[in-house]
Amino acid sequence: MIIDGKKTAAELREELKKKISQLKSTYNAVPGLTVILVGNDVPSKIYVKNKEKFAKEVGMNSEVIRYPVDLQENELLNKIKELNKNDQVSGILVQLPLPKHINKRKVIETIDYGKDVDGFHPMNVGNLSSGYDSSIPCTPLGCSLLLKKAEKNLSGKHAVVIGRSNLNGKPMTQLLLKENCTVTITHSKTKDLKTECLKADIIIAAVGVPKLVKGDWVKKGAIVIDVGINKTDAGIVGDVDFDEVSKVAKAITPVPGGVGPMTIACLLSNTVECFKKAHYK
Ligand code: GUN
Repeated sequence: MIIDGKKTAAELREELKKKISQLKSTYNAVPGLTVILVGNDVPSKIYVKNKEKFAKEVGMNSEVIRYPVDLQENELLNKIKELNKNDQVSGILVQLPLPKHINKRKVIETIDYGKDVDGFHPMNVGNLSSGYDSSIPCTPLGCSLLLKKAEKNLSGKHAVVIGRSNLNGKPMTQLLLKENCTVTITHSKTKDLKTECLKADIIIAAVGVPKLVKGDWVKKGAIVIDVGINKTDAGIVGDVDFDEVSKVAKAITPVPGGVGPMTIACLLSNTVECFKKAHYK
């Protein structure tokens, strides 16, 4: 089974469109997403354009604030504080990476955690790891929705997460624990990654190494979610050798067309959730 992220994301956006239209008639307001982009990083520019496009498509208010690469940190922090106070803004996303002279941690911690659609604020990170209600980072949230397409009940499954980033590996682990999985987190210092992977019922690959996970690393019938987006001479490839692994796995996500489209759909979903929480108060 190839898990179709493009289709699943389109279905999720369709649901959100309906929800937003209901919210509009209830509150006479729609969720608003503000994305801040600093500098000229080319992949970031593409991501931000897509975020804006899909936010509009589901009927949200969408605003992108673009700054030059030499923006002063204070100016960015002041803008975030202004957006925190603006009732029209349900969600704030500052696109990463930021230029080196800007302190990423300060930026993330300045965003009102109720508007933190990335789920990066320490309050959301802490709430997620404590099992409380929180914003959930978009990429792992997308992975878990795709995982559910392949297997409804994940209880007792052994999941191996490759990569320990704050963006994906760590929050992914929390989501898998919530589903009662046994989780192994692996990383660059893991001694024998192949042996660890061979124990897995579920593999989440998020390290940014092209085609790292080979066919003989995967147990027959495992589910494999590929978060990697790696530019190579042969085009965009994931962290999983798709041709080899698709022959052994029960289900696998392709690259492109797997996790990628889900990330933006989940961002829109998080924005709707932030709007709802702000209005139910
Ligand atoms: N850059 C790459 N992925 C992400 C993401 O999920 N959120 C933000 N803010 N920046 C990113």
